[in-house]
Amino acid sequence: MTPYSEDLLRGVLSQHSSKGVLFALQTTQEVLGYVPDSSLNVIADVCNVSRAEVYGVFTFYSDLRKTPPAQVVIKVCVAESCQAVGSRTVVDELHARGYDVHAGTIQDDIACEQIFCLGNCALSPAALINGVPMGRVTADALLQAASEMKQ
Ligand code: FES
Repeated sequence: MTPYSEDLLRGVLSQHSSKGVLFALQTTQEVLGYVPDSSLNVIADVCNVSRAEVYGVFTFYSDLRKTPPAQVVIKVCVAESCQAVGSRTVVDELHARGYDVHAGTIQDDIACEQIFCLGNCALSPAALINGVPMGRVTADALLQAASEMKQ
């Protein structure tokens, strides 16, 4: 991740100002790892829209982060197929260990979040760890894999 600097962000975004607010938000997150509150003014200026408009787009998309990401991000599928074969148990076991997937809890540099269908229903319950798919997961397997990724 690159440390935030208004000049850096203006330089990156000014090359793509015609691509719109969502593209600017995604680019900011790609460069910085998240979308700092202070970057919303820069995006509004570069895209020639109000800060309120940028904020509206920013808050609509749950994949846009307000804070720096954890080193490891676990995303547990909570859609129908996964629920039918045990994702609620996985979610409950993670919750018992202090990770609320519905709130996106970060603990020990591991974040747990919910996601809705990864297209990996044949291996339900499914999850992603830093974007890598895992199937037939358990809370133990997810936390073990997350710990190994941190090292
Ligand atoms: S419902 Fe979980 S991967 Fe499709």
